[in-house]
Amino acid sequence: MEKTPIQFFISLIIVLGRVVICHTEISRSDFPDGFFFGTSTSAYQACVLTVLSLVSRWIEGAVSEGGKGVNNWDVFTHIQGNIASGDNGDVADNHYHVYKDDVEMMHSLGVNSYRFSISWARILPRGRFGDINPYGIEFYNNLIDELLLKGIAPFATLNHFDIPQELEERYGSWLSSLIQDDFAYFAEICFRSFGDRVKYWMTINEPNVYVKFGYLKGQYPPGRCSSPFGNCTYGDSETEPIIATHNLILSHLKASSIYKIRYQPKQGGYIGIALNCPMYIPMTDTEMDRQAAKRAMAFDVAWYLDPLMLGDYPSEVRNCLGNQLPKFSKAEMNMLKDSLDFIGVNHYITLYAKDCIHSACDLGGSHAIEGFVYTSGERNGIPIGERTGISRFFVVPDGLEKIIGYLKARYNNKPMFVTENGISSLDQTTEDSKRIEYHKSYLAALAQAIREGADVRGYFVWSLMDNFEWIYGYSMRFGLHHVDYHTMKRTPRLSAIWYKNFLTNDIQTDQSVSKNPTKDHNFHVTKTNATLSSSF
Ligand code: GAL
Repeated sequence: MEKTPIQFFISLIIVLGRVVICHTEISRSDFPDGFFFGTSTSAYQACVLTVLSLVSRWIEGAVSEGGKGVNNWDVFTHIQGNIASGDNGDVADNHYHVYKDDVEMMHSLGVNSYRFSISWARILPRGRFGDINPYGIEFYNNLIDELLLKGIAPFATLNHFDIPQELEERYGSWLSSLIQDDFAYFAEICFRSFGDRVKYWMTINEPNVYVKFGYLKGQYPPGRCSSPFGNCTYGDSETEPIIATHNLILSHLKASSIYKIRYQPKQGGYIGIALNCPMYIPMTDTEMDRQAAKRAMAFDVAWYLDPLMLGDYPSEVRNCLGNQLPKFSKAEMNMLKDSLDFIGVNHYITLYAKDCIHSACDLGGSHAIEGFVYTSGERNGIPIGERTGISRFFVVPDGLEKIIGYLKARYNNKPMFVTENGISSLDQTTEDSKRIEYHKSYLAALAQAIREGADVRGYFVWSLMDNFEWIYGYSMRFGLHHVDYHTMKRTPRLSAIWYKNFLTNDIQTDQSVSKNPTKDHNFHVTKTNATLSSSF
């Protein structure tokens, strides 16, 4: 039910009162100087503009507004049945047209950073098989300049699930090693065009989630899978995830090497990857379930980060997949170890892990590709934390502290950013006290991890505003700002007001939102043979 302005004002006063009380619990001064506080979005979810009628004939090289080419999500969402609600990202939040207002909205929140993604098909409508789209370059130049004007550091992701559809049709995208050169080509255009101002790059967003949903379960494009993992026309869930993972890792490597050799020395920025980092804890206090939790962590996290940090796939994954797992060459191994300056941690999930090697798992988890682990948010019918809009996302703030501890221990305390963290709901209102509690508790857990010595340098709320939430369409809302999809009006939720207070209520805040945020970092960059790498 809509609130009258007076009712809204009264609830605002109540929440602000609570915020004042809670301010002693967690405040900005619990975090180090120069810490980045921001919000995240991605291109397809917030920005896209695709002319519907052109999608069906994309093969003729159709482009949409601003010269953008058709991408994999444009095509996938227009196939009936792929997105239950029938929604698509054709217009999304219309951010493309109102980016200046959106930057002002961030400025008024008091954030000093913003994580967004660059639409590959807007820069290269046909990948490397066509021209660079000058309007795409212009759009991102304008966005970046506007952010810097407002003292907001741009954190750019090169690939957040969307690729030019041409690459899917030509060679099967991530299933082909050809994609590595396409991605490197795109990345270099971005470094060359924007790297004088963008100092924080993430090559790929959540390759682990993309592989799971694109090639294991078939719920994201290209919608490939096999039974019993999903119901698809094409695909092989037991082998394709392994191939796609390998190509994603080597694509990261190519882009990162180009940055480190050709751009980092003169541009002085940093390059990382953003991984979905769930936390798994043993279902029971038995050695079998402790091992299962270890395997679950390895399959979700270390499968990607071990190569990028330590040069090879983890033994936990190799033990399950054996020779199916491809091998890196010696040269690749050496380069891989030096391919990350920081780890982007997207954290939403903490689940129980149950062993499926020694016990039967009827509900899933009995295959090698799953690491012989069954994962669940419930134990004996009791949920691990409060439920949220998405069934496997529970509120477990400790999970953030634990995953940061895991990464710190396994990767020698590499610098980290929490590049996504947030809570969804299906409800339309702007009164989201649950979201406020969520962020407060996760920030408190993060502050604790930092006190224990973890090198975490930033926290980005997912999301600045409601947007297209993949298979859930527009029904699932993650925003600090509510979006009315008819009028595109953004309205701050109570959580936005809370975040603003959190960010601006103490003196440090105003200093840390400097006019030149990219100078605030304190990575120590050391020269190695051919590349630069950060240490601490
Ligand atoms: C992440 C993804 C985001 C957003 C978020 C909330 O996996 O990177 O794009 O959808 O989940 O579900």
